[in-house]
Amino acid sequence: MFAGSPCVFGVLLLACVFQSTVAQESSAAKPMVWKWSKATKIEVSHVKFQTGDFDTIDSYLDNEAEFPDLTQFTLCVHIKYLHVAENNTLLSYYADGRDNELTIFTNSLDAETLQLFCCGNRVRNYMHYPIRLYTWEHLCISVNLRKKLITLVLNNDVKEYEVHEIEVQGQETEPLIVRGGGRLVLGQDLDSEDGGFSIEQVLSCEIADFAIYNTILTMDEIRSFMACRNRIPYEPIIYVDQAMTTLRAVGETEITTILEEKICAKSSGYNLLFPERVGFTESVSWCEMLKGTLVLPANKKENEEIYDKFFPFRDVCTDSWRTFYYFGTTRNVTTDKWFNYRDGSPILWENFDVQWNMMSSDYECAGVGNHLFMYTWFAIPCASSMCSACNFTAAPKLRIRGLCETSILDRSYYLNDYYNRRPLFDGETHSRIQWSNRSWELTSRRHRDLSAQMITKNPKLYPLGLQTWIISGDKCTQDTIELLMTPCGSDEYTCSTGSCIRKTSRCDLAIDCPDQSDELNCDVVNVPSGYSSALPPPKITEDPLDFRFSLRIITIREFNLVSFTLVVDAVISIKWRDSRLTFRNLRGNYQVNKVRDMNQLWTPKFLVRDGSRSAADLQVRSEAVYVVKEDAPVPDDITIISEDDRYSGTNNTLVLETESTMEFTCQFQLQMYPVDRQRCYLLFTIPGFSKDFGVLVKDGEGVIFEGTRRLLEYEMVKEVVAVEEEGKNTYVKIRLDFKNLYGYYIGNTFVPSLFLVVIVYLTFYFDTDDFEVRSLTRFYGQQNRIMVSLMSLLVLATFFTETSASIPRTSYLKLIDAWYVALICQNFMVIVSLVVVENLRLRDKAFATKVTPVGVKNLGIGKQPLHLKANFLLKFVFPTILIVNLVAFFSFWTNI
Ligand SMILES: *[C@@H]1O[C@H](CO)[C@@H](O)[C@H](O)[C@H]1NC(C)=O
Ligand SMILES: *[C@@H]1O[C@H](CO)[C@@H](O)[C@H](O)[C@H]1NC(C)=O
Ligand SMILES: *[C@@H]1O[C@H](CO)[C@@H](O)[C@H](O)[C@H]1NC(C)=O
Ligand SMILES: *[C@@H]1O[C@H](CO)[C@@H](O)[C@H](O)[C@H]1NC(C)=O
Ligand SMILES: *[C@@H]1O[C@H](CO)[C@@H](O)[C@H](O)[C@H]1NC(C)=O
Repeated sequence: MFAGSPCVFGVLLLACVFQSTVAQESSAAKPMVWKWSKATKIEVSHVKFQTGDFDTIDSYLDNEAEFPDLTQFTLCVHIKYLHVAENNTLLSYYADGRDNELTIFTNSLDAETLQLFCCGNRVRNYMHYPIRLYTWEHLCISVNLRKKLITLVLNNDVKEYEVHEIEVQGQETEPLIVRGGGRLVLGQDLDSEDGGFSIEQVLSCEIADFAIYNTILTMDEIRSFMACRNRIPYEPIIYVDQAMTTLRAVGETEITTILEEKICAKSSGYNLLFPERVGFTESVSWCEMLKGTLVLPANKKENEEIYDKFFPFRDVCTDSWRTFYYFGTTRNVTTDKWFNYRDGSPILWENFDVQWNMMSSDYECAGVGNHLFMYTWFAIPCASSMCSACNFTAAPKLRIRGLCETSILDRSYYLNDYYNRRPLFDGETHSRIQWSNRSWELTSRRHRDLSAQMITKNPKLYPLGLQTWIISGDKCTQDTIELLMTPCGSDEYTCSTGSCIRKTSRCDLAIDCPDQSDELNCDVVNVPSGYSSALPPPKITEDPLDFRFSLRIITIREFNLVSFTLVVDAVISIKWRDSRLTFRNLRGNYQVNKVRDMNQLWTPKFLVRDGSRSAADLQVRSEAVYVVKEDAPVPDDITIISEDDRYSGTNNTLVLETESTMEFTCQFQLQMYPVDRQRCYLLFTIPGFSKDFGVLVKDGEGVIFEGTRRLLEYEMVKEVVAVEEEGKNTYVKIRLDFKNLYGYYIGNTFVPSLFLVVIVYLTFYFDTDDFEVRSLTRFYGQQNRIMVSLMSLLVLATFFTETSASIPRTSYLKLIDAWYVALICQNFMVIVSLVVVENLRLRDKAFATKVTPVGVKNLGIGKQPLHLKANFLLKFVFPTILIVNLVAFFSFWTNI
């Protein structure tokens, strides 16, 4: 607004100068005058609370001026947090005997909230406010109690909230108002008119340009405040100035001024130097471990800023090349160009000394000159040992694990400043870890008797990683304690080298840490001390423990009908839960979560029996216990050093998988052989487990068959699981159903034997030997009748004995035996009938010789010979018998 017209600018400048003289003459509350006193470089008020070494309730700003009634106001402030506590009270106003007439405070870093209470506790608003430490943040809150609207602007991020009213009886109809005439305090929480401050609610930060306006600022005005172009055309009712016009500094509070441009300065990243001399590679990995990169200034200003900041360290850092820290660039010797070491992109700016930017394969790194060659870059060998200057996006955060729950020490530390020429680890709330020339020591801003010391032999070491500390004045029982300080986040795992990997990469059978430490100590089970593998797991609820059983049959190796045995390859799996255990680093695929040493755990000992209750012969091929992840990990517990994901034994399942060959007998029922069906049983039980305590239940299907169902002679048709109880025990009963594949018998037994019998019947159709026409053929035909049937009988008998030899012998008749016996009987009867017919024929012949003269043919119908009549009858009788038999047989067959 000024740049465009120098004329207007000049006039304003004059006006300012004039006004500033006025301001000096009268100390009337004209804050704008003071703010405008310098036209180009505007200085604004700056307050630092808690300037002492210890937090105190004696550090605040108190109001001098009369506080008016307010129905709307806007509060604007630049704020830089140095420490945070549970409640950081920015503003507390007590009026008319009412606590929290107006209170604005923020919570801890994790809570990310700003709370605003007002109007005698009738309004309570919780607003999103993520605190960033050590950086200036710009905050404006405007509250309109008439419209019941709160606007919170944080670094140009605008959020609107409706006033959240709490119902207070008898006051619903009263309009919302902040009553005037009370006491306002900045930096402490007023509990009464005279104070009642609490150390837990102090504000440990710097604020700049604090002001409260009794109006609602427009968004433009707020934005100009955020951009440090302080052109707000109203007079604030409350503000800070060095004359302490409306706010008076009390105790350890310092009011100064600060250049506005410093508050809004664009940062060139967040740079830190670590005053230990190492090579380029170590420098890179050190910065990367803390999640930063090597510095690489992008312009002259940045180069000088960083140089000036690190200049005090030049003496400890300078090596023989007279350079003292590395830049994040390396030279490509082939092309003689400098590239960013991280992504290989060409660097934007450099400041190399012309003579020393030599082209040589030895000088591939870049360092900055010491006091003799200020700001100048040199090409140097990457093996030079210099300090690591790192660039971060924010102060590197480190977390401490292993402190007991009641410990009052901070769990989060930030690298922000130096102490004794080494980095200072500044705790989130009050503790700090600093170098005391001999060791790393921890002190507290809040608890004077709290201190700790790190035990280290190597003075170069940082308190990072796993270290032993001696703590005094804390509320933990142990004084000597191992603590892990790590830059890794809560979803990361710290390698032994300090670098971070994702937790999902831990124990995934791939090396992620440079030192392979992510694949060490990967056993999934934590066996607590006092665990006895002889004792079964305790009940989790009132109900008995479930042992989920399932059987996976891989193949049926042998099905022996003669010896009545069955050999089955199967995987028996039993799942259970053991609440005494905890698990670590579980993966989704349970087979990865194998327990290394299953003997240290209790595992169910099961027994397998067959249908006749005799023990089956179990040959165990392999046995393993796995953990099935069924629940999310339990919340991270920072009192435990180990960062591994932990899983409860109550909600995750152990599974014992036993791959074995089981040989067992099966009582075959062969009455219907070869169209029989067989049922074989397997019983599983965990002996010594009464059903009040643990019961077997089937898991899913219970049994899965994976092999080929068609065996040589039988086919497995079905597998059924049932859980049954017997006395105090439960057992799983598995039934395997087999069906005979009788196709063989149809082709080899039934059809040929049937044909034989049919042939035998056909003999009735052979002509009976006619005594009048003695032809050769007829003679033979007569012979055949007997011959054929006798032969058939012989063949049938042979068939029978042959078939019987290949199937088990039983005392009872099998179906196939019955078939043969029936056929043989029929065959036998046919032969008997043939003999009878033959006798009749001989009798007929003798009778005919007597009655009928030789050569005279008498074939009258009424006088047919008896044997022909019998033959004729038998032609029908036997097939009928056969058909009846067959029908009976097939109906019997199909009924089974
Ligand atoms: C922080 O403020 C809340 C709300 O006023 C209060 O309940 C809590 O006790 C305070 N915490 C401390 C440590 O004073
Ligand atoms: C620091 O890192 C940021 C982000 O990567 C980058 O923009 C900035 O230029 C860096 N500053 C320095 C001095 O390396
Ligand atoms: C140097 O540059 C050349 C040409 O661009 C490239 O082929 C080579 O890989 C680079 N060398 C290194 C070490 O980056
Ligand atoms: C550490 O040593 C330096 C100089 O050697 C000295 O100035 C400083 O006071 C010492 N600090 C402590 C805590 O002893
Ligand atoms: C187990 O899961 C139940 C239900 O999800 C939950 O309430 C319980 O807290 C879990 N127990 C443990 C030890 O994680």
